[in-house]
Amino acid sequence: MKNMGTKNQLGDMPKEEFIKYGYELIDWAANYLERIDSLPVLPDINPGDIKAKLPQRAPQSSQSMDDIIPDIEKIITPGVTHWQHPNFMAYFSSSGCGPGILGELVAAAFNTNGMVWKSNPASTELEETVLNWFRDIIGLPKEFFGVVYDSASISTLHGIAAARENAGLNVRTKGLCGLPKLRLYCTEHAHSSIDKACLTLGIGMEGIKRIASDKNFSMIPSELEKAIKEDRAKGYTPFCAVATIGTTSSTAVDPVNEIADICEKENIWLHLDSAYAGVTAMLPEMKKYFKGLEGVDSFVVNPHKWLFVPLDFSILYIRKPQILKQAFSLVPEYLKTSVDDVAINYMDYGVQLGRRFRAIKFWFVLRYFGIEGLQARLREHIRLGQLFAKWIDEHPMFERLAPVPFSTVCFRAKPSGWNDEKKLNELNERLLNEVNATGKVFIVHTKLNGVFTIRMVIAGLRTDEKHVELAWQIIKDSLNKILVD
Ligand SMILES: Cc1ncc(COP(=O)(O)O)c(C=O)c1O
Repeated sequence: MKNMGTKNQLGDMPKEEFIKYGYELIDWAANYLERIDSLPVLPDINPGDIKAKLPQRAPQSSQSMDDIIPDIEKIITPGVTHWQHPNFMAYFSSSGCGPGILGELVAAAFNTNGMVWKSNPASTELEETVLNWFRDIIGLPKEFFGVVYDSASISTLHGIAAARENAGLNVRTKGLCGLPKLRLYCTEHAHSSIDKACLTLGIGMEGIKRIASDKNFSMIPSELEKAIKEDRAKGYTPFCAVATIGTTSSTAVDPVNEIADICEKENIWLHLDSAYAGVTAMLPEMKKYFKGLEGVDSFVVNPHKWLFVPLDFSILYIRKPQILKQAFSLVPEYLKTSVDDVAINYMDYGVQLGRRFRAIKFWFVLRYFGIEGLQARLREHIRLGQLFAKWIDEHPMFERLAPVPFSTVCFRAKPSGWNDEKKLNELNERLLNEVNATGKVFIVHTKLNGVFTIRMVIAGLRTDEKHVELAWQIIKDSLNKILVD
């Protein structure tokens, strides 16, 4: 097709071109997802390889989509880590789905900025509605109000900012100077986003007190109670505890009900980070891990991690949204509207002003799969996680290093006769590298009590039993290869 974006042409790409290349790209996306098994999960490249294939300068004159589109396969795909691959078992998965991808298309076509109700009533009301649906699905009480942010890190930043506001220190007006030192409590297994929120909010690293955890990496509530009392005696101002259901390293579960009782008694905010595992509150059989959920003040869950909503989509649910508003609402003249007292203006609930129309993809995903469809997929991942844990437990050369409440398995190789911890760490690091070098599986590690721990996460939309079997075979073969070397 003749390129219409020439210098004589103003305005957007013509409709015929948009349709032609739109179909082409939908075909490309469908084929990419269909053949994804055949691609290496991790690209075999070095830093700078992709940049070297790209021109140093942007084009002076218009280029045709006929020239642009082939570069996806030529330049970009070879440098992509394929998060949609069924054997992507690293970090916490984020696998998108067809309806979610189409939702992104619609959101991009509208390209609205939902700062205030008036700047896009539909995105505001859809966001409120789908977040209320999801709040009810996971069993949070009705008073919880949801806000979508890009990531759990930012959701948590806002949760902790609300906690700081709730402490009644008037930080909004006066800043932190001259105030007694604030203190936040979490275990060493809490995600680094808690630390980053404290860095950003002026709490500082010294404002974080690590609470001891038990052999299952769960917070010991009596230690929390003790730390709060000691801090008060020393003149600190305890203001927030952060519990996690599904910690990043081992998916440990903090006892939220006991922690909530302490927070209530001590009058401090309880923030719950359940970025990965929170979606499993949809399953009646998993409710046992969410005891006390109704007692938290704020709660983070990422449908972009394990509910197949394309990145990015994190939800903060907050019991007292007026506190968040009190912390952040600032309305310049040009954003004042005649419905400010009756409508939600999401800009009031955070740092950012502009907001994408994210709710539409979540709406598509919830409607397309239905609650039952999503539950069935989560259940299958949990079944596969338990199955993999069983294979580890039954194999004489491997050992499991943490309980498996969800679908993430922490383990290491421990051949008989290998008792030196340093050598075991080296062996497992080699094993991990060997597995990833096959290009067929991607897994990462963590350290638990100083032990090099391999983490296998089974939460991808396209992952089924044969992919878990393949990963297991590759792990065993790689270990054998190392041991005979
Ligand atoms: C428990 C937990 N909280 C927060 C985060 C941060 O997530 P995000 O990348 O959405 O900021 C992660 C990331 O894996 C996590 O595991």
